[in-house]
Amino acid sequence: MTVSIELGRTAAGAPATLDLEELLATRLLVQGNSGSGKSHLLRRLMEQSAAWVQQAVIDPEGDFVTLAERYGHLVIDAAAHSEAGLQVAAERVRRHRVSVVLNLEGLDTEGQMRRAAAFLDGLFAAERDAWTPMLGVVDEAQLFAPMAAGEVADEARRASLGAMTDLMCRGRKRGLAGVIATQRLAKLAKNVAAEASNFLMGRTFLDIDMARAADLLGLERRQAEMFRDLERGQFVALGPALSRRPVAVRIGAAETASRGAAPKLTPLPEAPPEEVRALILQPPEPAPRAAPRRPPPPPAPDLLAQLAQARPAPLHDRAEAAPTEPEALAEREARIGAVVRAVLAEPEAAYRPVAVLYQDFLVRCRIEGIGGRPPDLPAFRRLLAVGRAGVGAELEGRPEWQAALARAPLLPEDLQGVFLLLARAALEGAPCPSDAAIARAYGSRSLGRARRVLAWMEERGAILCRPDLTGRRIVHIAGLGWETAPGDPGAETDGDAAA
Ligand SMILES: Nc1ncnc2c1ncn2[C@@H]1O[C@H](COP(=O)(O)OP(=O)(O)O)[C@@H](O)[C@H]1O
Ligand SMILES: [Mg+2]
Repeated sequence: MTVSIELGRTAAGAPATLDLEELLATRLLVQGNSGSGKSHLLRRLMEQSAAWVQQAVIDPEGDFVTLAERYGHLVIDAAAHSEAGLQVAAERVRRHRVSVVLNLEGLDTEGQMRRAAAFLDGLFAAERDAWTPMLGVVDEAQLFAPMAAGEVADEARRASLGAMTDLMCRGRKRGLAGVIATQRLAKLAKNVAAEASNFLMGRTFLDIDMARAADLLGLERRQAEMFRDLERGQFVALGPALSRRPVAVRIGAAETASRGAAPKLTPLPEAPPEEVRALILQPPEPAPRAAPRRPPPPPAPDLLAQLAQARPAPLHDRAEAAPTEPEALAEREARIGAVVRAVLAEPEAAYRPVAVLYQDFLVRCRIEGIGGRPPDLPAFRRLLAVGRAGVGAELEGRPEWQAALARAPLLPEDLQGVFLLLARAALEGAPCPSDAAIARAYGSRSLGRARRVLAWMEERGAILCRPDLTGRRIVHIAGLGWETAPGDPGAETDGDAAA
């Protein structure tokens, strides 16, 4: 039995297939300029073959993490793991036959090279009884097997080049089939490219890349001119797993979306002019988020001393509030809390600027008929921090939680949500929130930013991070003695963590 998958259609409308078993023996090289559709092609190939063969993708841009949603790939956030840890993880990946995405986003070139090398070495080092068929997919392969020495340390380059050579030259016996994509054939090490017997050539502009492609395919240089006129998503296929003669293929659709997809045009929001005016022209916020203008935080020992003495800051200006009796005050506070949660429940709310959320908040307070002067922007920021930490009524009622609330205001406002998120997990003994959850609590989508925020807080002595034996993260809250359970930094979603 042969297993073929459909990559797309030929110009004549016939299915363009790829023979998976043949591919395992003969490997694949994809080349095309940036934007020609290589990553999409790899995605289509992996989606169509996910049910048939185990796969590991080396993903420099975090493009493929969305495969996890539908196809169950395990996403490994490389920046959160040591090289040794990644090597061991890769050996286990083979033993347990799980498909994985090695997300190298956020690392510098050398860090990407070193970690990719460690991971590929691990795939390669697996013991004989784990040599089952597997696709080793590498996007932007010229990063890992560069033609020329770059600025990175020689040792990192050798490790990475060696691992790529193993993948393409020596993987076959071990069931490991290399599938690599590059935007610049002329920048890819020759011995790595030469081991592929199957080619998918996309749009190519530079003569030198065209010449290399023609050499590999055994075409006249003149014939290679056709690569210039290919459209996005169109590739010329040749090789034992594809076609015995060069044939133009239009790659079919993918089920999952690229995370790095070009921004889509969307209708602009409609708002009355006076509201827009208020939104855009209101005076600058007292505590701007931009790092350079943030007042320098107190040095670590100071901060710790303050942490020991701090008392909760009032959540909003009670003096001007309409009710004065304690019950009425508490009720008003609860209603305001509910409004904050409603603001945060809006889709995308986590990533909107505070000023925009504040406008929404003020409108909702009016609609709810909440009397008195509404909380001002700094007070709203504090409420937001609590809301972003996903704190519910049960936790609010616990006396220990007041101690966490007391410490938060000692951090810059934009970090308080993250601090409370961690404190909440620690108090509840829940797993440490993932980078994604931390980024969300910070109002960002960047996982790198999340890690920098943690590092910053650790430097200032507010928290302490350490990995457990399997590389999961534990966060200790300074001064409170609470600790989260181990959590996977790379987990995609974190349930209600910052809903
Ligand atoms: N065959 C295709 N069908 C539909 N969209 C495609 C196809 N190929 C590429 N695209 C889209 O074009 C854009 C660029 O493709 P991409 O695969 O990221 O290019 P590359 O990796 O070569 O730089 C992406 O938004 C992608 O979704
Ligand atoms: Mg790409």
